[in-house]
Amino acid sequence: MKKVKKLLALSAAAAMLMSMTGCSGSSENSDNTGNAGISTVSEGKLIWATNAEFEPYEYREGDNVVGIDADISAYIAEQLGLEAQCEDMAFDSIIAAVQSGKADMGIAGMTIDEDRLENVDFSTPYTDAGQVIIVKEDSPIKAPADLAGKTIAVQSGTTGDTYASENVDGAKVDRYSKGAEAVMAVLQNKADAVIIDNRPANAYVEKNPGLIILDEPLTVEQYAIAVKKGNTALLSEINRILAEMEENGKMDEIMAKYLGGNEDLTETAE
Ligand code: ARG
Repeated sequence: MKKVKKLLALSAAAAMLMSMTGCSGSSENSDNTGNAGISTVSEGKLIWATNAEFEPYEYREGDNVVGIDADISAYIAEQLGLEAQCEDMAFDSIIAAVQSGKADMGIAGMTIDEDRLENVDFSTPYTDAGQVIIVKEDSPIKAPADLAGKTIAVQSGTTGDTYASENVDGAKVDRYSKGAEAVMAVLQNKADAVIIDNRPANAYVEKNPGLIILDEPLTVEQYAIAVKKGNTALLSEINRILAEMEENGKMDEIMAKYLGGNEDLTETAE
């Protein structure tokens, strides 16, 4: 606590000094660092890798990628004195992009899981989620047990893919590069069900009449931000900023902006 106060006092003094000298505060960094001294893969930028096919977390509005993760990234970048830049790619390329230094962080409604933890480090979780089943209204599939032996459409490389592949007896798993294509497969009777995350499922069902989400969620998951293994400098800053966002109401504000009145269906993973 003492330390925090001291830091606050120091930054207040610095701010005064800056306003006295007319300094705009724009930093003159000689290397790839932002104001917080964090080194990033591209100077002055915080590059976030995602797959913008996942409303409300990340999706396209014209040329822009918007959504909960876009706003979280923008806030983190701002706090670090960096400019957020989105790299939109296939979901199953995100971990590699973070590992190889193509991106500083992966934020894509990405679930913390053991396999991924072998390749990247995760921040503290910022929200809960769960896999749910989407079927046509008149489907004979009424509960998870009815999935056995059925054709299940998933987005490739997701936890929905893992669940269908490992937990459903005799299922035929059809992998699509986009969640929307998996949903389309059910609408066109090419697949019997989709297994996908709860909030994106809500968005798909809202847009496609004739589809429903089964009540019983299949998993309990947590989303977090992935960084390159061992990048503790960036990770601790991300964790600090996430905690601050929880405290100052920014996280709630972002969630409310994109979830609006839809929160009723999203507590399924609790
Ligand atoms: N939560 C799931 C996972 O981590 C699905 C994430 C898909 N995200 C996306 N932006 N397409 O595997």
